[in-house]
Amino acid sequence: MTSTTPQNAPFGSILTDVMAVATFKDGHWSAPALRAVGPIEIHPAAHVLHYASECFEGFKAYKWADGSVHVFRMDRHIERFRNSASSLELPVPAPELVADMVTSVIDRSRAAVPDAPGALYLRPMLIGTSPNIGAAATPSSEAMLVVLASPVWDYFAGGAKPLRIYVEEEATRCASHLGVVKTGGNYAAALGPTLAARRAYKVDQVLFAPGGEVQETGAANFLLIRDGHILTRSLDRTFLNGVTRHSVLTMAVDLGYRIEERVFTVAEMLDWVATGEAALSGTAAVLSGVGTLVRKGGTEIRVGTGEIGPNTQKLRAALVAIQQGTSPDRHGWLRKV
Ligand SMILES: Cc1ncc(COP(=O)(O)O)c(C=O)c1O
Repeated sequence: MTSTTPQNAPFGSILTDVMAVATFKDGHWSAPALRAVGPIEIHPAAHVLHYASECFEGFKAYKWADGSVHVFRMDRHIERFRNSASSLELPVPAPELVADMVTSVIDRSRAAVPDAPGALYLRPMLIGTSPNIGAAATPSSEAMLVVLASPVWDYFAGGAKPLRIYVEEEATRCASHLGVVKTGGNYAAALGPTLAARRAYKVDQVLFAPGGEVQETGAANFLLIRDGHILTRSLDRTFLNGVTRHSVLTMAVDLGYRIEERVFTVAEMLDWVATGEAALSGTAAVLSGVGTLVRKGGTEIRVGTGEIGPNTQKLRAALVAIQQGTSPDRHGWLRKV
């Protein structure tokens, strides 16, 4: 029998042994506790189970060649987590509380952090727990904050494959004011259109472009790339403002690229990919090249040569080198734990 390891397990399907838990009641957060990973007890009338008051984060800690462990851009992820909580009218935990819970879980999971190209994926989540099934229009005054950790492997350790992406020009990924919020309901909303496109067109992901304006995919941001130039949608509340997107753009400036952030259309994207590159950016995807776009009815459009473009490969390697400590962390993105 083969054992389950990060190398052969689907992303996120195995957890380390320990989780951190804190609860909010009567206007105060409890001191966080470290516990063995296992079921949590919430009331069946809990707000989250009826009205989806939930948000989460996802980021990684990396083990360097010298064995030390470094978490990537935790502060920015915690800031986004707090913004998500605030948008959902959930109690907003102090950044120090979340950071303390994350670092304790990493510390206790140290032996489970995989070597490169693996990482320890951290998953803080916050749920509304007030027991009241009549509270659709009332915020949850009680909440639970849990931090889980999952050893993960590089998505593309077996050799990166160019992605096949369906361009969805009608359906939205989620409610337009919630795109910026990392909340479970958005993923539930995107699941139907994503599975339908997978069935119809055998694609890896869906690029949402409602009304013909390019937004993002179900779990990653979208960038058009060519020599010295990147085009990506400007930040607004309709899509998740990715930390990887910000990191890639910052690094690209260092490497001499011109960054254009603005709204652009499917027609412009199709012009660009006749000769340029396209890529998805995200904590899990890192920077993944797109090889083919598929439109309604099944028309296929090749992106550049159909292979992962040289600029995508260069930017991905530059980001991974910072994360793995083989190139200097000039922007102070890593924190040793
Ligand atoms: C919908 C969506 N967009 C974009 C991203 C990329 O965000 P980040 O780079 O912060 O991981 C993610 C992943 O977290 C996501 O779920």
